[in-house]
Amino acid sequence: MNPLHVADYAAAAKATLAGDVLGYLDGGSGAEWTLRENTAAYQRIRLRPRVLVDVEAVDTAVDLLGSSLAAPLGVAPMAYHRLVHPDGELATVAAAGAAGALFVASMFASTDLVRMADAATGPLWMQLYWLRDRGALLDLVGRAERAGYLALVLTVDAPKVARRLRDLRSGFTLPAQVSAVNLASELMAPSHVAQAGVSAIERHSRERFDPTITWADLAWLRERTRLPLVLKGILTSADARLAVEHGVDAVVVSNHGGRQLDGVPATVDVLAEVVDAVAGALPVLVDGGVRRGTDVLKALALGAATVLVGRPVLWGLAHSGAAGAEHVLTLLREELEEAMALCGRPTTADVDRSVLG
Ligand code: FNR
Repeated sequence: MNPLHVADYAAAAKATLAGDVLGYLDGGSGAEWTLRENTAAYQRIRLRPRVLVDVEAVDTAVDLLGSSLAAPLGVAPMAYHRLVHPDGELATVAAAGAAGALFVASMFASTDLVRMADAATGPLWMQLYWLRDRGALLDLVGRAERAGYLALVLTVDAPKVARRLRDLRSGFTLPAQVSAVNLASELMAPSHVAQAGVSAIERHSRERFDPTITWADLAWLRERTRLPLVLKGILTSADARLAVEHGVDAVVVSNHGGRQLDGVPATVDVLAEVVDAVAGALPVLVDGGVRRGTDVLKALALGAATVLVGRPVLWGLAHSGAAGAEHVLTLLREELEEAMALCGRPTTADVDRSVLG
C-alpha cells in the first residue's frame, strides 16, 4: 500500500507493530474518552471558504520563538522512538529537519541528545518532567543548552503518569535495547518494571517525578537556564494567565494525547479560550488529534502559532524510518497548503477565525 494520508500510516502500524508496543503508542488513559474526543472535535469544526482570491502562491511558513518553520508543524515530545524502529530519534530528527518542522525531544528519548543535535537541520527543543532529583534535572538542562537546544518544554500535566489500561493488560515494559539514555541509569533502574496493577512507566513516574512543584518553583528553573521556557499541558484560561504572569515564553494546549486525565476536553475545544486569555502575550501551541492538513488550518484559525504532531510521526517511523516520518510531516504541510488555497487564505497571516463556521 502506498500511504496517501496519515490514516494509512495508522493502519500500517496497527498491522505490523507488536501488540504491547502498539498499545503503548496508540493508547490513552482511563476509558480513552479524551483520546477519541481529540480527533472527533476536529471533525465537528467546519470551514467556510472565501472565493476569488489569488491563491497561486500559498505560503505556509511561520516564525516561532525566533525560528523559521516551513509550516506551523512540529514533532511532539514522545518517549522511546526506538521502540518502533531501530533508527529511532535519529530518523525523526532528520525527518523534521527535512520537512522544515520543529522537533521536540522527550526527556525519555532513546537516543543521546548530542547525537540528536548532530542529526538536526532544524530547530530542536528539549522536553522535561520535573524530577525529584533536581541535580539530575539541571544536568540534563545544561547538556541540552550546550548541545544547541533552543527551548525547554516543561510538561505540567503529569505530576505522575496516569493509569493506562492497555499497558496494564499487556504488561508492557521496555525491551532491553531501548532505554532513556539521557538519564543516569540509576534514575531508570530497577524500578522501571511492572508490578501488579501498576505499569512499569506509571511506577517509574511515581518514584522519580516531583508532584509537589507549583508555579513558585518555575523561578528556580528560570534562574538556572538562559533558554526560553515553554509549559506543555495547559487547558484553562486561568492557568494560561498564570503562565503569562510567571514570565513563561510559550504554552502548549495539550492533554498529553489523551494519556493523562481522561475526561478533559479535546484540546481544539479549549484552544480559543487559552488564546484569548494570553491576548498575544506569548505564542500558544496545541497538540492532540491532528491528523489532516485541515486540522492544522482549524487550529491556526483558532489562534495556534504551531501544531505539534505525536503518534502520526511514530506511525510513519514504524512504516519506513526517516522517509516515513518525513512523509507524514510533508503530507500534513501539503494538505494545509491545499486547504489554505481552497479557503482563499494564501498566507498563514490570512488565517483567522473567519475561516470557521
Ligand atoms: C507521548 N507524549 C509525551 N509528552 C511529553 O511531554 N513527554 C513524553 O515523553 C511523552 N511521551 C509520549 C509517548 C507516546 C508514545 C505518545 C503517543 C505521546 C505526549 C505527546 O507529546 C503529545 O502531547 C501527544 O502525543 C499529542 O497527541 P497526538 O498527536 O499523538 O494525538
